[in-house]
Amino acid sequence: MKILVTGAAGFVGSHLSSLLREEGNTVHGIDNLSSYYAPDLKSLRIERLLNPANIQFTNLNLVEKSTFRNFLDKNNFDSVIHLAAQPGVRTPLNRSSEYIENNIQAFTNVLQLVTELGIPNFLYASSSSVYGNSKEIPYSESSEDIHPVSIYGATKRANEILAPTYVRGSSTRARGLRFFTVYGPWGRPDMAYFRLINSGINKTEFTRFGDGHVKRDFTYISDITHQISGLHKELQSHEKGFSDIVNIGGGNPHSLNDLIESVNSKLGSDIHVLTSDMNPNDTLYTCADVSLQNSLTGFVPKVSLSQGIKETVEWASSSDISLNLDHWVKSTN
Ligand SMILES: NC(=O)c1ccc[n+]([C@@H]2O[C@H](COP(=O)([O-])OP(=O)(O)OC[C@H]3O[C@@H](n4cnc5c(N)ncnc54)[C@H](O)[C@@H]3O)[C@@H](O)[C@H]2O)c1
Repeated sequence: MKILVTGAAGFVGSHLSSLLREEGNTVHGIDNLSSYYAPDLKSLRIERLLNPANIQFTNLNLVEKSTFRNFLDKNNFDSVIHLAAQPGVRTPLNRSSEYIENNIQAFTNVLQLVTELGIPNFLYASSSSVYGNSKEIPYSESSEDIHPVSIYGATKRANEILAPTYVRGSSTRARGLRFFTVYGPWGRPDMAYFRLINSGINKTEFTRFGDGHVKRDFTYISDITHQISGLHKELQSHEKGFSDIVNIGGGNPHSLNDLIESVNSKLGSDIHVLTSDMNPNDTLYTCADVSLQNSLTGFVPKVSLSQGIKETVEWASSSDISLNLDHWVKSTN
C-alpha cells in the first residue's frame, strides 16, 4: 500500500513510518519540523529512522492547504495517517492559536482534501485528554462523560466531531485513535519520563507538578505502532463513509511516583525532585478500556512500564544521545 504519515518527524510518526515500511508498504512522511521542541531532534529522527528505511520525506506545513493539495495531486495514496499536531496540554492560553492552527485548521485541511480526493483510509490521532476528569474509569469510547479540561483536549474532541461529518457520503473510511501517554526511545522532551531520564543522567533537578499521585496509562511506543498498524488493516474491512473512535492504551496505569522510582532503579540514580503546583490542564487519572481495540485486532499490549523504561534509558544513555538530552529538554516551550 502507499501510505502518507503526517507528523513523520515526530515521536510516534517516525516509529510508525518505520514499522509500516518494514511491513512492506511504500511510506511518505510529511512534517514542518515545528519549533514546539528542538527541531534538531526531529531532523535526527529523519536521519536515523526514516532515511535508512527509504522513507521519502517532505517538509510541508499542513496549514498551507494549496501546497498540500498540490502534493496530494502528485501522489496516489491508499491511506493517510494524520499524526501532525500541536501536542501537550500546557501551552498557555495566550498561545492557544497554536492549537487552533495546527489541530483544527490543519486537521480540517487534511480531512477535506482526503475526502474530496476519495483517499480510501484516514486514521488520525486523538487523545485521552478528551476524557478530561471523567469519573467513569476505565475510559471507554462509549462514555458520554467526555468533557476535556484543556484547549488541546478540546481541539482533539473537535477533530472527532468533524471527521464523521466529512466522511459520511464520501469514499473515505475514518478512524480516530485516542492515544494514552506514549513513551519510549526518540520520545518527546516535554514529557515527564523524558525529563526524568535527563535528570537522572545529567544530574539536574526534576520539577514534579503536584504530589506525584496522578496516574497515567503509559503505552510503550512499539505497542502503539503495532496497534495503529492493526487498526489500519481492520479499517479496510468497513464500508465507505464509515467512521469510529478507538482507544489505544496499555490498560495498566502507574503513578508519576512509580515512574520516578522506575527511572531511579534503572539508572541507579537518586533524582532531586522539586515540587511545583499541579497544572490545571493536567488530568488526575487516565486509564483506557482496551476491550474495543482488542476485539478489533486481537492485540494485547506487551511491554511493561519497567521493560519500556529500561529500553528508553538504554537509548538515552548512548553517548551521542545523552549529550543532547538536556538541550532537548530545555528547548520545550
Ligand atoms: N505522545 C503522546 O503521549 C500522545 C498522547 C495522545 C495523543 N498524541 C497525539 O499523537 C500525535 C503524535 O504525537 P507525538 O507525541 O509524536 O508528537 P510530536 O510533537 O513528536 O509529533 C507531531 C509532529 O507534527 C508536526 N507538526 C505540527 N504541526 C504541523 C503542521 N502544521 N504541519 C506539518 N507538521 C506539523 C511537528 O513538527 C511534530 O514533528 C499528535 O497528534 C498528538 O497530539 C500523542
